[in-house]
Amino acid sequence: MKIQIINGPNLNLLGKREPGIYGSEGFESFFETLESKFPEVELHYYQSNVEGEIINKLHEVGFSYDGIVMNAGAYTHTSVAIGDAVAGIKTPVIEVHISNVYAREEYRHHSMMAKNCKGIITGFGLQSYELAIRSFL
Ligand code: DQA
Repeated sequence: MKIQIINGPNLNLLGKREPGIYGSEGFESFFETLESKFPEVELHYYQSNVEGEIINKLHEVGFSYDGIVMNAGAYTHTSVAIGDAVAGIKTPVIEVHISNVYAREEYRHHSMMAKNCKGIITGFGLQSYELAIRSFL
């Protein structure tokens, strides 16, 4: 089982960025925890602040991997292009968010990719990623 995690803009600042909303743990250390929790899964992690690079990664893994767990950050709410990429690939995508986007500003309530995702997990902190991986298993 091969799963790609994709994090979008500003998620490289996890741990430092608005810790009251996103927590105080960086993704690199959390990724090690994930790897130890799922030794049977080949887990890959990619982060980019650049919309086109996220699309390139979706194209690269989207015809061969078993699952993609994607937190597209603010692009979730704005990017027609990432939404189109999710629609165009074969690998199922689960959209995840650390915060509960529905408890926040209204502009975070819409997702450009949700309708082409297998499901959405939002509001469970970093555990959202873990729940998404479990769902693929
Ligand atoms: C986020 C929610 C988005 O609205 C926001 O722009 C982010 C992070 C989350 O994980 O809660 O960057 O995707």
